[in-house]
Amino acid sequence: NNTFSTLFVGQNLIKLKEVDSTNNYLKNLASNSEPLPEGTVIMADNQFAGRGQQESVWQTEPGKNISTSIYLKSSFLPISKQFYLNMAVSLAVSDALSFFLPSPVAVKWPNDIYYNRKKLGGILIENALTGSIIKSSVVGIGLNINQQAFGNDLSRKATSVYQILNKELDLNLILEKIFVYMEKYYLILKSERYAILHSDYLNRLLYFDIATSFIQNGQVFEGRIKGVEDSGHLIMEVDGNIRHFNFKEIEYIHTN
Ligand code: BTN
Repeated sequence: NNTFSTLFVGQNLIKLKEVDSTNNYLKNLASNSEPLPEGTVIMADNQFAGRGQQESVWQTEPGKNISTSIYLKSSFLPISKQFYLNMAVSLAVSDALSFFLPSPVAVKWPNDIYYNRKKLGGILIENALTGSIIKSSVVGIGLNINQQAFGNDLSRKATSVYQILNKELDLNLILEKIFVYMEKYYLILKSERYAILHSDYLNRLLYFDIATSFIQNGQVFEGRIKGVEDSGHLIMEVDGNIRHFNFKEIEYIHTN
């Protein structure tokens, strides 16, 4: 009974009350029931073992938020360009949420969704490879929508659409927008218009070309983000020199 106005994303929709992780569920489905239609979506009210970037856990209040995974047949994508899928997804999610919020949503490198310098959500993309060729991708998206409050250590760093608007939104309306924009940016990716994705991504990157404090191995330093390489590595100016950073190398300092 779904009426998403998309060509393929969300047309095959599997809704679950509870699952370990929608990414795990979709990966298993893809390997056991080939061929799975492109754009198949898993949605869950609750995940009891939701996963985040860098082996972190992803926990949200059941029934209140978006936990979803999308299956893409990304075999056209050269491995050297795989970060462009992260860019496409970040753009889709930030465009979709910006539609509902008073000011634009930002992307924090590499692919966190931010609003008012607080985290609204995150993305976990897992590619299935044969050798060094991408076969398909599972795009996991977790967004804080109707959750009203966060636990102690999170309340400084996390926010939700509810906290911004002071009202609950229909999750399906937001999903619809995400799927529509996902399709748009995925087709840009598929047609190899990399430069568009690259410049759109930089345009909404949090702290782009703004002096910001970072921390690396306990050392605080000031830098300016200047760009992102095709590999996804961050290009920064530090003390007049250009430096490159890998994904786990640095952290931002939360100032609020
Ligand atoms: C992060 O910010 O670290 C990424 C969070 C990604 C969470 C989503 S929720 C749906 C999908 N299933 C998972 O287990 N993780 C992703």
